[in-house]
Order: sequence, then structure tokens, then C-alpha cells
Amino acid sequence: MDLLKILQLTLGLLSVPDHTDQSPVPSGNGQRCEEILPNIYISCKMRNLSSIPADIPSFIEILDFSFNHLEYLDDNVFPHLPHLFSLDLTRCHIRFIGSNSFEKMKNLTTLILTGNPIEQYESEAFSSLQRLQRLVVVDTNLSSLENLPLIPLTHLQELNAGTNNIEFFQIPPYVFNFTNFRLLDLHCNKIAFIAVSDTIALRETPNKNLTLILSRNQISHIEPGAFQGIHLKELHLRTAFVLSGAIKSCLKAMAGLTVDKLIIGNYRGANKIQTSEVDFLDGLCLFEFQEIYLLLKESTARGGDIFQCLTNASKISVVSSHLKQVKVPQFRRLKELQLKKNDFSYIPAAELSYQSTIETLKITDNKPQTYFYKPFIEMTALKYLEISRSHLSIQECCSKQFSYLPQLKYLNLSFNSELRLEGTAFTGLEQLETLDLQHTKVTQIGVLSSLSNLRNLKYLDICYTNTDFFVEHALSGLISLKVLRVSGNVFRGNTSTYLFRVLQNLEELDISNCGLGHLHPSTFTGLDKLKHLTVTNNKIREVEFLTHPSLGALKTIHIGTNNIITIPQHTLDRLPKNLTALDLSQNPIECTCAYAGFIKWTIENKAKLTDQNRILCQGPVDSRNTKVTEFDVNYCRHMSTIIITLTLGVVLLIFFLTLFVYKYQFYIRYACILLRGYRSTKMGECAYDAFVIYSSRDELWVMDELVENLENGVPPLQLCLHVRDFEVGKSITSNIIDEGILNSRKAIVVISQYFIESAWCKFEFEMAQSWLFLEGNLGIIVIILEDVEDDKMNRVLGLHKYVKNNTYLKWKKNPLSSMRFWTRLRKAVMSGKNTA
Ligand SMILES: *[C@@H]1O[C@H](CO)[C@@H](O)[C@H](O)[C@H]1NC(C)=O
Ligand SMILES: *[C@@H]1O[C@H](CO)[C@@H](O)[C@H](O)[C@H]1NC(C)=O
Ligand SMILES: *[C@@H]1O[C@H](CO)[C@@H](O)[C@H](O)[C@H]1NC(C)=O
Ligand SMILES: *[C@@H]1O[C@H](CO)[C@@H](O)[C@H](O)[C@H]1NC(C)=O
Ligand SMILES: *[C@@H]1O[C@H](CO)[C@@H](O)[C@H](O)[C@H]1NC(C)=O
Repeated sequence: MDLLKILQLTLGLLSVPDHTDQSPVPSGNGQRCEEILPNIYISCKMRNLSSIPADIPSFIEILDFSFNHLEYLDDNVFPHLPHLFSLDLTRCHIRFIGSNSFEKMKNLTTLILTGNPIEQYESEAFSSLQRLQRLVVVDTNLSSLENLPLIPLTHLQELNAGTNNIEFFQIPPYVFNFTNFRLLDLHCNKIAFIAVSDTIALRETPNKNLTLILSRNQISHIEPGAFQGIHLKELHLRTAFVLSGAIKSCLKAMAGLTVDKLIIGNYRGANKIQTSEVDFLDGLCLFEFQEIYLLLKESTARGGDIFQCLTNASKISVVSSHLKQVKVPQFRRLKELQLKKNDFSYIPAAELSYQSTIETLKITDNKPQTYFYKPFIEMTALKYLEISRSHLSIQECCSKQFSYLPQLKYLNLSFNSELRLEGTAFTGLEQLETLDLQHTKVTQIGVLSSLSNLRNLKYLDICYTNTDFFVEHALSGLISLKVLRVSGNVFRGNTSTYLFRVLQNLEELDISNCGLGHLHPSTFTGLDKLKHLTVTNNKIREVEFLTHPSLGALKTIHIGTNNIITIPQHTLDRLPKNLTALDLSQNPIECTCAYAGFIKWTIENKAKLTDQNRILCQGPVDSRNTKVTEFDVNYCRHMSTIIITLTLGVVLLIFFLTLFVYKYQFYIRYACILLRGYRSTKMGECAYDAFVIYSSRDELWVMDELVENLENGVPPLQLCLHVRDFEVGKSITSNIIDEGILNSRKAIVVISQYFIESAWCKFEFEMAQSWLFLEGNLGIIVIILEDVEDDKMNRVLGLHKYVKNNTYLKWKKNPLSSMRFWTRLRKAVMSGKNTA
């Protein structure tokens, strides 16, 4: 490091310069900043940077520079960022903020300095931040608000100075001149004492819109009159007092305060407030408030007489107070009462009865098993009643308990133990518009029409109520119903097909997780207004039902987690036209080219598909868990080309094969026959002496001469002639083999011009030739009936060679020659007969 740099460092002109000799773009350890919203929001969080990267565009609006290293801020640290409105410098080890540090970002509205060990602010540190609305100096070693150079921040609305070391409630008076100032957060400081002199400014410059947070301080004393005449919007006093004993005296000392919303109580683990000391809230009788939130974690409540000083409140929330019972005064203007996380063993309905101002009552998260003994009576304004998550059991619900509430529109009994509905469960509750019984065991809904008189009901939630729908009219009478949720129940037989038809005004239906394997399209008959349908988590394979004409108005469909492999084209073509969102996630979709049409549809309709990252291929194996919308449909196009080419090839092959077979049919048949003959080579005694192979055109000669001379001579020879001896009905080739060749000792071939021309003879002859050759028996006798040209014989049959090597006889018509001819022929046929 050169001398100049060291000098600059000591002068605080440079930020810690370890990497400034490189380009500052990927400064620090080289990690780049991340663009969270293009051109708007850049995050350099935890990049170990020691300066602002130079490549940050000047037009960005939000910069998160938290968890880096800056230490010294001055007018050189930040580049020109004229549009920046939010700068987060959380935990950047800043110790010093010099004058005009934020000069180049005049439009800053939010500055976060949380977690910096700031030792000094120069008096002009914030001088260019006239537009700043929100300053966060949480956990910055601040010991007094007067150390902050806030004067220029005339537009400041929120100052968050929690988790510091502030001991005195001294607020610079000019802060109250900031016209929009509305939040002063001093939580988790060390304020112990508030004097009348500390609040002069608050009194003199009234700001009825101010929220003051003093929670988690250690206030032990408030000078009486300190809050006299002050009007605050909100005051937070949770665990604000050093001892629970101090609450009582401090609240009394706050007499004369007016506050719209008071939040009081303690945090878990903080000092306990003994609600058994029923008078700890007595001071509240001395000041005015509209809403009160009592959050009494870990208190040991007994009396429940906590409402004594709350009679003028309009909204009361008592949370975690472990009340076992309540004493309720006559409230004057209470509109909303919430009792959350208490220990009631029964619903305090009798105690709350006759309160005619309460419109909203919520009793939730009650700990032990809760019962209902007495009904609510004469709560004439009550519209909204929620008793949920409270281990509630009611034996004869619900008329008995709630029918004296003439205005009741909303009843929420969800997440309880058990409700036993009577036959006429809701008589007197006809005005109900919302009924939520989800996750509570409800008996009888599926068996009786217990809901039938709720003709104004618009919203019904009976999910997971352990309901078995046995009867088709279980939902009859609900003519106004718009939203129905029945997931997690069971439909017996085909009740689901008929159950919903009465609900002509239904807009939203949820039948997820009902174990449905199939939905008949007519399930939706008459539901012409249905816009949202959820059937997730069933076992549905086919979505044909989506094409039912009544579903034309559907906009969103959830059929995730079913057994859908694909959706056929004719269904896709008829999906509701106004569909904007389709959830198909977690189905076992088959990504094969056979279903390419469906996959192509998903790609083309991506905009409509929700949760695309979970629409995955289940098969085939090599595509498993890839996104369906990323499937390469072109691959299928290639595949189909390949398949077409292959098919064409096979067809051609078959064609040529057929041609080949046709052309060489004899040779092929011959080969087959040879094989067959060879297999049955062991045969019995021959039935014929000779098998005659001849052309049918030579039949006259064969019949008149050959048969005459050989069969009628002495000894008579037995000839096999195909015209005479072949069995009827047997194929000719079989006959040749069985009767002719295999059953004859010799073959006589009659060669003539006709024979040479006849393919059939050629075949018979070749077969005989080969057979005899296989047998090693020279049993062929050739008769040349008329002269045939040598080369013809040669060309056509290869007979020439054969004829040369074997006995052959030439027929001559003159008597002498023919005499000799017959003798020789007879001899040739007879030869070997007795040796066999
Ligand atoms: C952060 O940067 C400093 C130098 O500026 C370096 O010594 C340190 O190892 C870096 N830390 C990490 C976690 O990269
Ligand atoms: C009061 O403060 C709220 C936010 O806390 C703000 O919306 C409202 O505009 C302020 N009203 C006045 C009159 O300043
Ligand atoms: C409620 O207000 C009335 C006047 O409106 C007042 O007389 C009464 O003392 C107040 N009660 C409490 C508990 O503050
Ligand atoms: C009924 O109360 C439960 C539990 O607080 C809540 O989740 C649900 O949204 C409520 N139902 C309606 C319809 O507001
Ligand atoms: C589809 O939406 C349009 C405009 O929102 C509406 O006019 C039309 O009636 C809808 N179609 C059906 C079948 O509901």
C-alpha cells in the first residue's frame, strides 16, 4: 500500500481500501451483486464488499447493501443515485457518518442503519435527506435521541430507535413539528422514568396521529400529569414496566391520557403479571381509549375481573390470559370482543348475554375441553361469532345455543371436537350467511337434511367433518349457496353424482381429498355458475367431466395430485372457454410420443397452467421428473418420420419378398418338401413300382402306350399317375410326395417338348431327382419321347447332365424298336425290386 493511500485512509476519505486498487465492480471477495428487480432493486447483501460497486446503474431505486464493510461514511462513499429511495446499510460496521454522506441520493425516503456500532454523526450527516420518511437506527449504540442530527428531516414520518441505550424520555421538540411524524419506536431501551418536563413538546404540539412504542423498557416511575391532555393514536406498553407492581402506579400516573389503541401486557418470559391482583389495571379507569389489547403471556389468571376499567372500550382483545371465567360488566360501546388462548371449561355465553352492542365475538384457541351449557341470549347486535380451535363439544347443536341471536350472519365453529346435529339443527338461524364447521367432527350431515332451512347461506365449509354422505338430498335447501367446501369427507355409492344438483347458485366447489376415483359428468348438471372447481388429491384418471356443458363458466380448475396420465385431444378441445388457471401438478403424466398432443397443448397453454414446476413426467423412466412443459415435442416429430420410413421399408421388403417367392415358388416349395421328406425318410413297403412324371399334353402316350405295356404285361407293374392315383382333396404337392415319390421305387420321366415347357413337370422331376439323390438310389428312368434341343434341356433343367449319367431310353415308333424299348424299360423298373 502506498503512502498516499494510507494518508487517505487516515483522513477517512476512502473506505477500507483492500480491494480498491482493483476494479471495484466485483469488489470485496469478488461476489457480484444481484439484480432482484431489473433496473430497480439490487441486492449486495453479504458480499463482503468494502465499497459500493461502480457498475451499479445510477437509475436504481432500491439498494440492499447490508452485511458488508463500510466503517466510515462521507460524501465520497456513494455514487450518484438520484432515483434511489431505499437504502439498507444493516450491519456494515459503520462507526462514523460524516457530513453530507447521503448528498448524492436526494430522493431517499428510507434509510436503514440497523446494527451499526455508530460512534459519531456529524451535525450535517443527514443534511441532504429532506425527503426522508423512515429512519431506522435500531441497535446502533444510541444513548439519546438528541445525538441524532434530525433537524433537516422535515418529512420524517417514522423513527425507529429500538434496542438502544436510551435512558431518558427526551425527544427533541422540533420532531413534533414534522407535519407527518407518526411513529416513534423506542422499544427495548432503558427508559426508567418519565417526567412532566419530558413531554412538554408532546403536549404543546398535539399530534393525534402519533404511535408511541415503549414496550420492553424498564419504567419504574411516571410523574403524575406527564400524560395529562395528550392524545396518541397508539401506545404500546408491553413489558414496559420494571416490576409488575409498577404497572398499577404508572398507569394511574398516566391519568388524563387519551389513546385510540392501547396495547398492554407482557411477553413470554418477561416479568409475570399476576392477574390475581385484579386491580392492576385500575389506572385504566383514569384514561380514555377505544381499543385495548391485553396480551398477558404467562400470567396466572384467577379472577377474570379484568374488564372493570374497560367498559368504555369499543374493541377488546384479551390474549393468553389463562382466564378460567370472566366477570363481564355492561359495556357501553363494545363492538368487538376477542378472548384468545384462555382456559375456559365452558363457553361464557350466559356471562356475555344481554350485551347489546357487541357485533363481533371471537373465542378461540381455548385450552381445555370446552362445553356449552347456556345459550347466548339477547345479544341483539351480534353478527359474527367465532368459537374455533377450542376443543368444543356440543351435544345438541345448534338451534339451542345460537337461535336467540337475531342478527347472526357468520358462525364459525371450526377446529373443535364434536358437534352433534339435531334433525332441525339450524331452526331459527335462517339468516346465516356463513357457516364454517371444518375440522370438527359433525354427526348427521350426510344422513339427514340438517342444513335444509339455511336458505340464505352463501358459504359453507364442512371439510374434514368426518362426514359420510349417504343420502342425495343432504344439501337440499341451500339455494343461495355460492361457496361449498367438502374436502376430506366420503361419498357413499354414487351420492356425489346427485348431491350438488340443487346448488344452482354455486360458484366455488372444493371436493378435494374425498377418495374419488371417478367423477360422472352429470355431477355438475345445473351448476351453470360454477367458476372455481377443486378436485385435488383424489384418484381421478379421466377429466371428461370438465367438458360438461354446465361447466362453461369455469375459470379455475385444480386437479393436482390425481392419477391423470394424459388428457385426450377431444377433451382438451372442449375445455371451458373462460379457463384462466389449471392446476395439473403432481399427476403421473406419461411423456411419450403417444401423448404428444397433450404435451404440446400444455406447452401452448403454459400461461394457464399454475404451479408448472410440479407438472412432471412420471414416465418413461428416462424422462422421469422432468417438467412436462419442457418436453421436446420435435423429438416426436422425428420419431414419427423414422417410424414412417421404417414402415415403408418393411412394406417394400415384403413386396419384394412376395415377388421373389412368387418367382421362385417352386424352388421354395421344393426346399420345404425336401426337408419334410428327409424327416420321414423311413417308410414302409412301396405301393408303386414307378411314379410317372409327364406333361399332361403327353397323357395320350402315357395312357395308351406306357400304362398299356407296363401294367398289363407280365409281371404287371404298378404305376403311379397323378391323374389317376392322387388322393382327392390333398394338395398336389403333398400328393406328389406321399403318393408319388415316397410310395414309389422309381420315377419315370417322360421328356418331350411339352415337358420342357411345363414348369410343373420340371418341379416334379427335380424333386424326384433330389429325393433319390438323397436316398443314394439311382431310381430315375428317363424316356425321351421326342428330340429336344440339347441346349434347351440344358438351360431349362440342367437335365442334360443328368440324362448323360443315367439310363435313358429313346422312344421310337417302329415296332422293333418299341419292342426293345419296352423290354429295357421293364427291366429298368424291375431292377432292385427284389433286393429291397
Ligand atoms: C472478507 O474480506 C476480507 C478483506 O476485505 C477478507 O479478509 C475476508 O476473508 C473476507 N471474508 C469472507 C468470508 O470472504
Ligand atoms: C396517520 O397515520 C397513518 C399511518 O399510521 C396515515 O396513513 C395517515 O395518513 C395519518 N393521518 C394524518 C392525518 O396524518
Ligand atoms: C366511561 O365514560 C363515562 C363518560 O362517558 C365516564 O363517566 C366513565 O367514568 C367512563 N368509565 C371508565 C371505566 O372509564
Ligand atoms: C373460521 O375460523 C378458522 C380458525 O380461525 C379460520 O381459519 C377460518 O378461515 C374461519 N372461516 C371463515 C369462513 O372465516
Ligand atoms: C366468459 O367470460 C366473459 C367475459 O368475462 C363473459 O362475458 C362470458 O359470459 C363468459 N362465458 C361463459 C360461458 O361464462
